[in-house]
Amino acid sequence: MYVRLIAAVLVSVISTYAHAVDEDWNTNASDPLDWSSAGSKKPLGHGVLETRSTTTCGPSANNAVCASNLCCGPNGVCGTGSYYCAAPSCLFQYGPACDANQTPTGVNTTSVPRPKLGSTQYGVSIRDCGIPGKVALTFDDGPYIYTSALLDILKEKGVKATFFLVGNNGGKGQINDPKTGYPALIQRMYNEGHQVGSHTWSHADLSTLTRQQRYDQVVKNEIALTDILGFFPTYLRPPYESCNADCLNDLKDLGYHVANYDIDTLDWQGDYTRSQSIFSSNLKSASPSARGFISLAHDIHDKTVHIFAAYMIDTLLAAGYTTALYGECMNDPPANWYRNSTTGEPYTGASHNTSTASNAKSVSVSSNSTTTSITHSSTTATPSAVVGGEGAFGSRTGNATVSGTNGTASGTNGTATKSQATSGMGLKSSETAGTFFGMGLTWAILSWLFWI
Ligand SMILES: *[C@@H]1O[C@H](CO)[C@@H](O)[C@H](O)[C@H]1NC(C)=O
Ligand SMILES: *[C@@H]1O[C@H](CO)[C@@H](O)[C@H](O)[C@H]1NC(C)=O
Ligand SMILES: *[C@@H]1O[C@H](CO)[C@@H](O)[C@H](O)[C@H]1NC(C)=O
Ligand SMILES: *[C@@H]1O[C@H](CO)[C@@H](O)[C@H](O)[C@H]1NC(C)=O
Ligand SMILES: *[C@@H]1O[C@H](CO)[C@@H](O)[C@H](O)[C@H]1NC(C)=O
Ligand SMILES: *[C@@H]1O[C@H](CO)[C@@H](O)[C@H](O)[C@H]1NC(C)=O
Ligand SMILES: *[C@@H]1O[C@H](CO)[C@@H](O)[C@H](O)[C@H]1NC(C)=O
Ligand SMILES: *[C@@H]1O[C@H](CO)[C@@H](O)[C@H](O)[C@H]1NC(C)=O
Ligand SMILES: [Zn+2]
Repeated sequence: MYVRLIAAVLVSVISTYAHAVDEDWNTNASDPLDWSSAGSKKPLGHGVLETRSTTTCGPSANNAVCASNLCCGPNGVCGTGSYYCAAPSCLFQYGPACDANQTPTGVNTTSVPRPKLGSTQYGVSIRDCGIPGKVALTFDDGPYIYTSALLDILKEKGVKATFFLVGNNGGKGQINDPKTGYPALIQRMYNEGHQVGSHTWSHADLSTLTRQQRYDQVVKNEIALTDILGFFPTYLRPPYESCNADCLNDLKDLGYHVANYDIDTLDWQGDYTRSQSIFSSNLKSASPSARGFISLAHDIHDKTVHIFAAYMIDTLLAAGYTTALYGECMNDPPANWYRNSTTGEPYTGASHNTSTASNAKSVSVSSNSTTTSITHSSTTATPSAVVGGEGAFGSRTGNATVSGTNGTASGTNGTATKSQATSGMGLKSSETAGTFFGMGLTWAILSWLFWI
């Protein structure tokens, strides 16, 4: 009765937000330095000197274009530094120095042939995972400073995910610039079996661009990814889920599948209680034997990586699903997920492990209880994550009881410390106890409502 009532409320909340877009960077932020006149300042905590000029630019200034060495900031003023230059908020049509206008080093891929590969559709927006019982976890807008931690968590959990990468956003630098560390990180991402897709060069709204600007957004990311990996993807997620008819047509010509999603967790809004509800109630709205899902979250957010990623994994496994890569959901052979950047043919070197490792585990924590249950997706699994009932909240230690619902692993482990909690819940040891507690309690309530 209560469960039904709450489920109904959740469903209505979800449908309210079902059409929300992937609006993940706040382009309306005010100038952080609160300038009143032109000059130079060094923002607190950032090394980049910012300058504000006396000139204005963009639609609010009769489409004026800044001088060649300046960026057109989201405030319609020309300047330099992250606030003015970072994508996607820099108005790149009016600011020649905007990060979006940088060109990565590498071989121009424009003339690579782009035959249509496989049977996955081109020219339409794809949202459904075609394989019942699978959830494709997708992460957009990275790589960023949290992505390496996310790879650690995925590795520990034994699951694979799909990443839609942006070439140069948030002031992070160009992904193929070795100084950023991102080339090695992206290579690691691929080597560890995750699927790499494109999310454009600078997170531009493709529906608002000219054909040439759209090609530029796609090709520059190919140049950078080819420079790093030696090949480039055939799956692209349009920023803001925005791709009008002209865009669909251009992406088809460029040989990309338009890879959207059907669970928008809205993690970028920061209300992770709601994101958890959205994710779990979607999974609960169907049965694993009946359908699969493709979820959206963003690895540019600390809490998405350190809290929500593990939540999604634990929840989907506990609900009887396993993970899949985007291309697996399409029944597309891995070679078709990428093109050889010389021939445009499938990248035959691609070999991806099956999505959920045999030791994938789901760890659930019940609030203020000493019981931790671990659900295995195989009978031979051994848990490497051990969580104590209170230890998960970071404030106490105690002995945790571990029980396996499927096979061999059961017993009582040693002291549940904060770091063990980290393994289970994906919480960062530097998070405050308060955060741990809030998350844990919410999680416990959700577990109680939906999984008992
Ligand atoms: C940003 O500003 C524009 C123009 O003032 C407005 O239409 C839009 O709703 C704002 N977006 C957000 C997220 O506040
Ligand atoms: C790549 O080459 C095409 C065709 O020559 C050109 O239009 C485009 O600007 C080039 N792009 C980059 C990023 O160099
Ligand atoms: C692309 O194809 C060419 C020609 O067959 C081959 O020499 C090259 O090694 C391939 N590139 C990669 C990254 O596999
Ligand atoms: C596949 O994954 C397993 C476990 O995650 C790993 O041991 C193995 O080396 C991987 N194989 C390949 C070909 O990457
Ligand atoms: C759980 O433990 C915390 C900390 O000791 C306490 O404040 C809270 O009231 C307890 N909650 C329940 C439901 O027992
Ligand atoms: C438990 O193991 C059985 C037999 O291997 C398997 O069919 C079942 O799906 C497993 N259950 C879970 C929750 O993984
Ligand atoms: C946990 O269990 C171990 C071994 O049974 C015992 O030595 C230890 O005192 C226990 N710790 C706590 C906090 O209960
Ligand atoms: C926790 O218990 C499991 C299964 O009993 C065991 O494999 C694992 O090594 C234990 N971990 C620790 C830290 O004691
Ligand atoms: Zn995005």
